[in-house]
Amino acid sequence: MPLGNIIFIMKTIILYATKYGTAEAAARRIADKIDDEKTNAACVIHNLKQNIPSLADFDCVIIGSSVYAGMIRKEAKTFLAQNADSLLEKKLGLFLCGIAAEGEKKYFEDNFSVKLLQAAKAKCFAGGIFDPKKNNAAERFIIKIAAKKTEYTDTIDEEKINQFAQAMKS
Ligand SMILES: Cc1cc2nc3c(=O)[nH]c(=O)nc-3n(C[C@H](O)[C@H](O)[C@H](O)COP(=O)(O)O)c2cc1C
Repeated sequence: MPLGNIIFIMKTIILYATKYGTAEAAARRIADKIDDEKTNAACVIHNLKQNIPSLADFDCVIIGSSVYAGMIRKEAKTFLAQNADSLLEKKLGLFLCGIAAEGEKKYFEDNFSVKLLQAAKAKCFAGGIFDPKKNNAAERFIIKIAAKKTEYTDTIDEEKINQFAQAMKS
């Protein structure tokens, strides 16, 4: 085959940590925007609670987690601690899900090392969902006091997700 016919396909894995599914849904939306035959990009999503494929198979790694009391979920924290060096060799993206209206810079600073934050090609605070039907009584109480919310709330920001996906593709 002539060399000119060899096509480079950028392979991306989105690793997410979620309790009720928001971060998974955000990962899916990002993947849908990255997965593109026209630009030869392929993207898979994977729950950090399951056995994680080797990062060696991917050019681009995106890590996403919901935040609870300002912190990412345990499985995301563990993964970041165990893979700090290999993540620095990848095209890296970071996203967080939460319903807070402000303070996203601090969420990133509190949960990712300076090295990872500097290495990241893009970062996104994608918004979140509060669903009183899914959260337990203690969680509903915390949300009522801390965020003054009692009704179903969806702050997922489609435009931010789109911009993040485009940045990771470029
Ligand atoms: C107990 C509790 C604490 C939370 N703390 C925060 C927080 O500190 N900041 C924030 O933005 N959202 C906070 N949230 C909202 C969640 O991050 C939001 O519901 C998110 O969509 C959950 O994502 P998941 O379904 O992927 O776990 C909290 C929710 C609960 C129930």
